[in-house]
Amino acid sequence: MRTQVAIVGAGPSGLFLGQLLHKAGIDNIIVERRTEEYVLGRIRAGILEQVAVDLMEEIGVSRHMRAEGLVHEGIELLFDGQRHRVDLKKYSGGKTVMVYGQTEVTRDLMQARAECGLTTVYSADDVEVHGFDTSSPGVSYLKDGARHQIACDFIAGCDGAHGVCRASAPKAAIREYEKVYPFGWLGLLSDTPPVSHELIYVNSPRGFALCSQRSLSRSRYYLQVPLTDQVGQWSDQAFWDELRLRLDPAAAARLVTGASLEKSIAPLRSFVTEPLRFGRMFLAGDAGHIVPPTGAKGLNLAVTDVKYLATALEEFYAERSAAGIDDYSRKCLNRIWKAERFSWWFTQLMHSFPAEGEIFGKLQTAELDYLFSSEAGLRTIAENYVGLPLAA
Ligand code: APR
Ligand code: PHB
Repeated sequence: MRTQVAIVGAGPSGLFLGQLLHKAGIDNIIVERRTEEYVLGRIRAGILEQVAVDLMEEIGVSRHMRAEGLVHEGIELLFDGQRHRVDLKKYSGGKTVMVYGQTEVTRDLMQARAECGLTTVYSADDVEVHGFDTSSPGVSYLKDGARHQIACDFIAGCDGAHGVCRASAPKAAIREYEKVYPFGWLGLLSDTPPVSHELIYVNSPRGFALCSQRSLSRSRYYLQVPLTDQVGQWSDQAFWDELRLRLDPAAAARLVTGASLEKSIAPLRSFVTEPLRFGRMFLAGDAGHIVPPTGAKGLNLAVTDVKYLATALEEFYAERSAAGIDDYSRKCLNRIWKAERFSWWFTQLMHSFPAEGEIFGKLQTAELDYLFSSEAGLRTIAENYVGLPLAA
């Protein structure tokens, strides 16, 4: 097989990139190690910045999002027993966010890809990337007992945090920055109406909690838990009881509980790879960087990477200019580090860090109090939450 761009990974990064390239007339094949059902079954965050909403529009996959997505103009932060609202629209110069699940985004992109007749190879085992330091790279994989080869011009490493692309980059050419947080998030999805029409981020003495949602009848809640906890230790009842204890009395009274559709624990990590380009291979999305989920920047950052990458590749094919691909890493990393900073800061501000002593909680409350007393403070939360502007 031959294609112009071989994309490794059919998560949001790979699927968005595939549609963008197709729209620009650039042929691409996606190679994914899991099944389609497995990829669709993963539950992840559900907040789209304007940049992601715009991209859904641009590639013509916004029909469901427009019908089912919920536009949110604010979020609430609960600390010191009181809820405080950040008017995102007012303090970000008119921007909002869209509540629409990553599962739905993935489904819409997969449908669009199928309708365009583009090739996606699922259940590809032992994927390898070759020759990206030459002008004729390739990707190979095992399927149905045989090894298949794809010759290509470029490889897009959209294969997430544990993929093969970053692992194949020469050790001497790559630098990795990492911070691991001393807790995880226990998430629960349920067909119950959200406790409030906006998201509530909770800083409580019992630990962080988040009240999120997927629709008017489906909720997503999270609890900060020790890394040693196992999902099996948490019955639905134990989850709801703990969540109620972390909420203010009014919210606790309104909480509607029900059976969990999904429950899982995710660790929290800040991670950045530099650079994001190795010859003719590019890393995009989780393959290049991870943010802790506080602020829901993961998918939105992935979207920016692939937007920059698609533009650079388009420029390469249309104008035979390498200027865009030469600048890919720098341009992405500039926005990535700012989102990393915000996600790290928001995580530090809202979670319990028992090892830091009691003073830490006092300092957090003072900072939160200050932020809500200052227009500059509210702007700093709002501007970052709705997403910083894209580079020209
Ligand atoms: N070969 C082929 N595919 C692979 C390989 C491999 N060796 N390793 C991983 N993959 C696939 C995974 O199965 C997954 O479907 O690559 C895909 C990567 O998808 P994601 O992990 O969703 O990463 P990305 O597309 O960059 O999406 C970023 O998803 O994880 C969230 O927080 C993240 O919201 C962000 C977004
Ligand atoms: C989610 O709905 O899963 C979600 C929302 C906001 C976050 C993180 C996760 O900051």
